[in-house]
Amino acid sequence: MTNNIRDEIIDWLRDAYAMERGLEVSLKRMSESDQHCAEWREAAAEHLTDTRRHVVKVEGLLKSLGSKAPTLKTGTAIVTEPLKGVDTSMTRDERIKDLLTSYAMEHFEIVCYRALISAAETAGLPEVAEVCQEIIVDEERMAEAIYEHLPDAVQEHLAVSNAA
Ligand SMILES: [Fe+2]
Ligand SMILES: [Fe+2]
Repeated sequence: MTNNIRDEIIDWLRDAYAMERGLEVSLKRMSESDQHCAEWREAAAEHLTDTRRHVVKVEGLLKSLGSKAPTLKTGTAIVTEPLKGVDTSMTRDERIKDLLTSYAMEHFEIVCYRALISAAETAGLPEVAEVCQEIIVDEERMAEAIYEHLPDAVQEHLAVSNAA
């Protein structure tokens, strides 16, 4: 029984690793995009640093459980899946779509780690639960920052659109 839970945890950690690697790509793009204001670029850059730390932490957990991280190719496929409904390329409101997608992704991360915490507690792996809880704190901070920033970004977007 415990072995099955352990395998499940390994699977979920591999998914989490892939998700974080995928988010690294989108956060890097946003932190460098002139579509975004300086404030958002900075927030994306800061969370990029968090995300790289998450990658290292999740990789460390996988190693501690005798497994290893999946390849980046797998990761890209997994992380773009939830974003399929939102095409952010070549749209004038890219900056708003990025914020909506990012907010959804932060919450997706939060529930993935929440699920891992629950399984880790059942499997008697408190160190896994502890690391996942540390990561959740960063995701919640980013989600909050997006929520706070969104109205300003919308106003800015509308002002630019009206002036065009
Ligand atoms: Fe993360
Ligand atoms: Fe995140």
